[in-house]
Amino acid sequence: MTIRFSIFKGGTGKTTSTVSNAAALVKKGKKVLIVDQDQQASATRYLDIDPEQSPSLYEVFTGVEDVSNVLMWYSLQASLKPMTLNAIE
Ligand SMILES: Nc1ncnc2c1ncn2[C@@H]1O[C@H](COP(=O)(O)OP(=O)(O)OP(=O)(O)O)[C@@H](O)[C@H]1O
Ligand SMILES: [Mg+2]
Repeated sequence: MTIRFSIFKGGTGKTTSTVSNAAALVKKGKKVLIVDQDQQASATRYLDIDPEQSPSLYEVFTGVEDVSNVLMWYSLQASLKPMTLNAIE
């Protein structure tokens, strides 16, 4: 199944929805592949991956890398960072 979050307007929650839904599906035991096609690489950064330090779809589109070389395995559950109500003080 392919789920796409897209809308022309910026700042409408595309990245947040993508990563949140991916995390929820992983928690349900699904195998999820996030394809980050945004040049801002926000989803990539969300997962604490430095887009400058890793090959990306850009290299695939320009024929420099095979798509199998740009896949990164990542545990979404391990990426959760706790927050407390103290943060609003
Ligand atoms: N359901 C929500 N409730 C409240 N705030 C939200 C929600 N979803 C996203 N946000 C906030 O809205 C802002 C924009 O979200 P996000 O970056 O996901 O949008 P985007 O559509 O991917 O933006 P861009 O067009 O820049 O890629 C962020 O600060 C995010 O934390
Ligand atoms: Mg985004």
